[in-house]
Amino acid sequence: MGFRGEMVIVSLMFFVVLGIEVVAGRTHSSLQESEIDRQLKLLNKPALKTIQTQYGDIFDCVDINKQPALDHPLLANHTIKMKPSSYPVWREEDAPLKNPLSLVMLGKERCPTGTVPIRRTSREELISAQNIQNLNQKRYISSLFTKRGHYHGSSVNITTNNPRVIKYQTSTARVRLWGGSMFEISFIEAGWLVSPRTFGDQRTRFYAYWTSGMRGCYNIFCPGFVQISQTTPVGAVLDPISIYNDTQYQIKVTIFGDKKNQHWWLSLNEETIGYWPMSILVDFQDTAEFVEWGGEATGPANLLSSAMGSGYFPKEGEGIAGKFRNVFILNETLYEAYPLEDVLYTQSTNPACYSVSDRRDWYSFFYYGGPGFC
Ligand SMILES: *[C@@H]1O[C@H](CO)[C@@H](O)[C@H](O)[C@H]1NC(C)=O
Ligand SMILES: *[C@@H]1O[C@H](CO)[C@@H](O)[C@H](O)[C@H]1NC(C)=O
Ligand SMILES: *[C@@H]1O[C@H](CO)[C@@H](O)[C@H](O)[C@H]1NC(C)=O
Ligand SMILES: *[C@@H]1O[C@H](CO)[C@@H](O)[C@H](O)[C@H]1NC(C)=O
Repeated sequence: MGFRGEMVIVSLMFFVVLGIEVVAGRTHSSLQESEIDRQLKLLNKPALKTIQTQYGDIFDCVDINKQPALDHPLLANHTIKMKPSSYPVWREEDAPLKNPLSLVMLGKERCPTGTVPIRRTSREELISAQNIQNLNQKRYISSLFTKRGHYHGSSVNITTNNPRVIKYQTSTARVRLWGGSMFEISFIEAGWLVSPRTFGDQRTRFYAYWTSGMRGCYNIFCPGFVQISQTTPVGAVLDPISIYNDTQYQIKVTIFGDKKNQHWWLSLNEETIGYWPMSILVDFQDTAEFVEWGGEATGPANLLSSAMGSGYFPKEGEGIAGKFRNVFILNETLYEAYPLEDVLYTQSTNPACYSVSDRRDWYSFFYYGGPGFC
């Protein structure tokens, strides 16, 4: 079977693990109230300080050594690393048009030294994250992929948008690194998302996601991702967001491997945010086998699908369509380089509703997305 065939099958058998750690065979509909309480208590650690944002989120400043990540059984004896052993070498590209950045704003406040901001999970969010796992999901992607290789990381600038997404749906734009074989379904990803079911609102947020075997989740809804940045928590609202046929804002997302520390690091706008310890990513070696950049829309099978990207097709072009720019692969010494054209190909699982630019030099930029209603 050719590689493309392999991909399509994986897309079909694949389902997104949402919200909270999932253990195969367990049904969450039967979860008791006390179990919800127990999980909430685990997620929401005692705060040394609490920050309320203008968007209504609450961030607790939690002792960095007591953050939820460390509840992962494999991280029982984990020592937090405050920085990677080496940083990516950012490339000054010749692009004349630089769009301004979307930022994470916690207001004027910051967490005290030794603590990190952890978004407080509400009871409703936890219940909704668990209920969703019982729904029959459908999933569409419009992405650029690499062929199989040994990838040390990737960075990319992603235009931020606020597509129309209703209850129980999620729409994302992200870079995803696949570890092991695709059949083992192990990956880490980051970018922006709109997910009313996970966050109870329609805002565009910075997020990180991982899955390994049957475990994984968004942000810190389950133990795994270690937050390091004191100012930029995963799950926070991005602001400002691109305006239709007007100013386009963007974020730069980088995921890079750290062989020495055995971690995969995440940065936003060239600031280090945190990491996934390699030990929790069972199928990952110290390189990823595939990299994917693009949008994804998921939701219940009985609803028409949400918008992806800006909600407009790639043919609408600059200022209107969702866009990925400067699609970089990192080499072993973490230099940003464009991937070769012949290792790239695109896939759109339902071209009637979402698509990807038809061009060859995708690495310099490409548009993706569409209105949905599939
Ligand atoms: C943590 O350390 C204890 C005591 O040395 C050991 O028994 C346990 O297996 C370790 N756990 C992990 C996940 O390494
Ligand atoms: C976008 O804006 C330009 C300049 O303001 C205008 O000429 C053009 O018609 C607009 N395009 C659309 C599709 O609205
Ligand atoms: C990508 O984002 C970074 C900000 O982290 C910025 O420095 C760079 O100029 C951006 N590239 C383009 C082409 O806009
Ligand atoms: C990575 O790329 C840079 C810049 O092209 C180069 O100097 C360096 O030797 C490369 N590293 C490896 C391990 O190939």
